[in-house]
Amino acid sequence: MATLICERPEWKDLQSQTAVVKKTHLRELLKEEERCKSMIMAFDGILLDYSRQQVTAEIMKKLFNLAEAARLKEKIEKMFNGDHINKTENRSVLHVALRAKRDQIIHSDSKNVVSDVWEVLDNIKGFSERVRSGDWAGATGKPLTDVVAIGIGGSFLGPLFVHTALQTAPDVAEACKGRRLRFLANVDPIDVARSLDGLSQETTLVVIVSKTFTTAETMLNARTVRSWITSALGSDAVSKHMVAVSTNLKLVKEFGIDPNNSFAFWDWVGGRYSVCSAVGILPLSIQYGFSVANKFLQGAESIDNHFKTAPFEKNIPVLLGLLSVWNVSFLGHPARAILPYCQALEKFAPHIQQLSMESNGKGVSIEGVPLSFEAGEIDFGEPGTNGQHSFYQLIHQGRVIPCDFIGIIESQQPVYLKGETVSNHDELMCNFFAQADALAYGKTPEELQAEGVSEHLVPHKTFSGNRPSLSILLPKLTPYTLGQLLSIYEHRIAVQGFIWGINSFDQWGVELGKTLASHVRKQINATRKEGKSVSGFNYSTSTLLDHYLKVKSD
Ligand code: F6P
Repeated sequence: MATLICERPEWKDLQSQTAVVKKTHLRELLKEEERCKSMIMAFDGILLDYSRQQVTAEIMKKLFNLAEAARLKEKIEKMFNGDHINKTENRSVLHVALRAKRDQIIHSDSKNVVSDVWEVLDNIKGFSERVRSGDWAGATGKPLTDVVAIGIGGSFLGPLFVHTALQTAPDVAEACKGRRLRFLANVDPIDVARSLDGLSQETTLVVIVSKTFTTAETMLNARTVRSWITSALGSDAVSKHMVAVSTNLKLVKEFGIDPNNSFAFWDWVGGRYSVCSAVGILPLSIQYGFSVANKFLQGAESIDNHFKTAPFEKNIPVLLGLLSVWNVSFLGHPARAILPYCQALEKFAPHIQQLSMESNGKGVSIEGVPLSFEAGEIDFGEPGTNGQHSFYQLIHQGRVIPCDFIGIIESQQPVYLKGETVSNHDELMCNFFAQADALAYGKTPEELQAEGVSEHLVPHKTFSGNRPSLSILLPKLTPYTLGQLLSIYEHRIAVQGFIWGINSFDQWGVELGKTLASHVRKQINATRKEGKSVSGFNYSTSTLLDHYLKVKSD
């Protein structure tokens, strides 16, 4: 029987270190300059500071030992080599091939996949240029200025995050002038109304994005929007107004989309790891031009290469992954807050939520052995400073939640009010720097007493501090740095999974709910069509369903 990582002496060795951390306040650790120096590192414009993590040099050493015990190096190599590391689906995990340079060679099942990737990228470039120039026009000859991308989960969150981040970038403002990109994800008809609001069928291109082309929500939304198009322009308009991105080109064709108007990707790309495939690159290329989307790929590639080659002590995704394992599995902090001090990154945390929680929210090891420790963590976040006025109270005085502070040095939108030397962006960044120290140092009763705070308020105003965080500084939010940020988190999450010994690339936990929803769908159909009463459910569900059907038809 395969053993779990927690049975290894390296794990137990780390457990013994938690006592050290409990005795040592971050206030003390931050006094050690040599320690701090060793925990600040730079790579390709990115600065990482993890000196506010509850770790010592000794703990870091032991974390690297744990990485060795978990065969982390070998697992990373296997991923890049195209081995079938997604064992339950018997697939390679090669999202890194999506951003490989044209002349690189990466094999999956003895086939170089990079040439396939570039064939699709070349098609995207050609197609997006035709749409942008108006050469590819709608059924009535008008240029297609608006795109609605229909997809959910990994076929939605990554592209949404990147689009939201680029929307306000002045360097791409000219490239997207007069164009709109919308997303339709939820099967809730409100989302249909919201995404189509103000659009004209004549000038709208619909991109259906679905890895499987079977996802119930996406397919219903696709049929709904197809009918919106054809009711105005006739059924022939589909060939000009609807294209698809999928691994399942057979189903794309059956849906009525010309295979020439579809953009492939492959089963070795997990849905939540697919933003660098046509899933993200097609809509982003139409909106901003292929060269912008390509810079995003180049940023991701820079980190892929760093992840593959840098020694663990200097490897950003490896360091971040190990620190998260330390926080979750040893210090018992089940959550992680993702706090970009940048409004343009408002959709970053929702993307990381899926990436992390669908990848690492597992209960068994890759060999199927139930875990005797908790894996995965609860990810959430909001841009600062908004979050400060929402949930930071809990982070400062309630539960301990390790925080990722992400700051940008040069704003996309610099604003200096007349006569001010601190710009609006500086003001934002003051908070970025202050919050990390507030969490680490806290405020003692003695300090409060010295300030003359009334005795009865001292306990309320005390901050225990000793709350871990890390800081990432990017020079500017550009397509390139967005690619870097994405790749850092993708690999960090993989590192966590590799250490925990789980499969971060399957998602069986989403299936049961889908099956049960289809039972309910059948029941609604039977009740509406044949007047059959609700049956086959427990008392609670039958009552709720009965009530729903009755109130709706009243
Ligand atoms: O239900 C979860 C999931 O399978 C995700 O893993 C995936 O990103 C999403 O649904 C959408 O799947 P598809 O791209 O096949 O429509």
